[in-house]
Amino acid sequence: IAARPRDLFDRPLGDLRVSVIDQCNLRCQYCMPEEHYTWLPRRDLLTISEIGRLADVFVSLGVTKLRLTGGEPLIRPELPEIVRDLASRRDRGLRDLAITTNGVLLAKRARALKEAGLRRVTVSLDTLRPERFEALSRRSSHGAVLAGIRAVPEAGFTGTKIDTVVMRGFNEDELADLIEYARSVPAEVRFIEYMDVGGATGWSSSKVVSRLEILQRLTQHYAGPPIPLDEGGPAPADRYALPDGTVFGVISSTTQPFCRTCNRSRLTADGILLTCLYSLDGLNLREPLRGGASNEELRELVAEVWRARADRGAENRLAQRERGAFISLDSLRRDPH
Ligand code: GTP
Ligand code: 5AD
Ligand code: SF4
Repeated sequence: IAARPRDLFDRPLGDLRVSVIDQCNLRCQYCMPEEHYTWLPRRDLLTISEIGRLADVFVSLGVTKLRLTGGEPLIRPELPEIVRDLASRRDRGLRDLAITTNGVLLAKRARALKEAGLRRVTVSLDTLRPERFEALSRRSSHGAVLAGIRAVPEAGFTGTKIDTVVMRGFNEDELADLIEYARSVPAEVRFIEYMDVGGATGWSSSKVVSRLEILQRLTQHYAGPPIPLDEGGPAPADRYALPDGTVFGVISSTTQPFCRTCNRSRLTADGILLTCLYSLDGLNLREPLRGGASNEELRELVAEVWRARADRGAENRLAQRERGAFISLDSLRRDPH
């Protein structure tokens, strides 16, 4: 394994998130407009073996965690094959293989994914109320999502997480209900501050429910403050325990960005390497890959981009807001996760 590259702020290359498709079967208001997209043509999507080769390149640079995202990854029909191919790279240093999904198709596919070698599942769930779900996602798939979540432990997965974006006037009254629901799955819920990223065209700072407020609300509800579990490390979630021992997380990317320790890289479904959640552009790896570049050559391209990395997207956004600058979402990114 080559030396793990470090960026201009001394952050090592760590996790890789791979989008396997840009399309989605929901239209969550914080992510995608109802209409707008011209989806990527199929020929531009990385193939199973191209994803595998790039995974090898990243693993050889020190990446040990890989997460498949979208769009909605389960829409890609070959997903179990992609997982099987990646899982076979375990002995080469890939330790964690996870997926982030909206859950709509999980009831059907959880078992096949488990058999293919997937290790962990994170499902997005913002509300327990069907009418709220429909208003947010513009689709009536709430029942399918709940069935999908139930199928995860049934298929034998452990370490399941539920991601909840908290938005004022939408679901800030459901925090305790979601904690209880997650415990019953069993899964660990993480409350995510609403971010002005990707297709979040309706974002405004007044809709952000901060970590502080989330903790205050829970303190009131449980008649005692959540106790921080001091773990350190580059994971975006800070974890807390309730008086009864239930653990949940808070991802405060808006009010307390964690750019300082961010070690994530992202690969779009068409093979562009992005070095920040807020990046609008990156290095096209699909072209050299299809042009016959060797793994060595690809490795050098990736390492070079990482060494030049100076991104701190969330911190910059926070600084702009503190200066009172108007921020326009002038460009819609395809892969907001
Ligand atoms: P684990 O592998 O389970 O540790 O996952 P994780 O804790 O890394 O969480 P996950 O990758 O599921 O990300 C959870 C949420 O955090 C995402 O849905 C985003 O909302 C937010 N997030 C993830 N990556 C970034 C990032 O690079 N920057 C910022 N600002 N937010 C991020
Ligand atoms: N703010 C916060 N989280 C977001 N996600 C997508 N868009 C946003 C946003 N604007 C996260 C959600 C979803 C995951 C796939 O990406 O957590 O669960
Ligand atoms: Fe689809 Fe996820 Fe975006 Fe919702 S947040 S529209 S489920 S990709």
